[in-house]
Amino acid sequence: MSNTLDRGACVCASAALVDGGPGVRFAVATPAGGEAAFAIRYRGQVYAYLNRCAHRLVELDWEPGQFFDAEGRHLICATHGALYQPATGACLDGPCRGAGLVPITVAERDGAVWLAETPVTVVK
Ligand code: FES
Repeated sequence: MSNTLDRGACVCASAALVDGGPGVRFAVATPAGGEAAFAIRYRGQVYAYLNRCAHRLVELDWEPGQFFDAEGRHLICATHGALYQPATGACLDGPCRGAGLVPITVAERDGAVWLAETPVTVVK
C-alpha cells in the first residue's frame, strides 16, 4: 500500500478533522503490511481506527472520508449500516453486534495528529 504511515508519523493537520463530520483516510503500517485506516474528531477528541467493518471487513466510509451518520453521533458502515461508538469503536447496532473497530493510538499536539510511537497491533 503506497503512502503508508509508520509509527510516530503525522496523520494530518488538526484542522482537517471536523467534529462529528469529515475524517481523514490514511494507511498504517502493521505486521501484515499497509492497512486502510481513518481518523475522526468526536466531542473534541481525535480517534483513529482501521477502516475495516467488523461485519465483512470492508471499508466503512460512504463517501471518501465520510464516516459519521447524518447526526454526527455514530460511525456508520456504508454497506449494511452497522453503527459504532466513535470514542471506543464498539458496535452499537447492526450486523457487527458484539464486535468492534480496531483502534489505532493517536495523539494531537502542535496543531497536528500523530501516530503513537508504539507499533500498531492488529487483532484479526
Ligand atoms: S459490511 Fe459493514 S455492516 Fe456489513
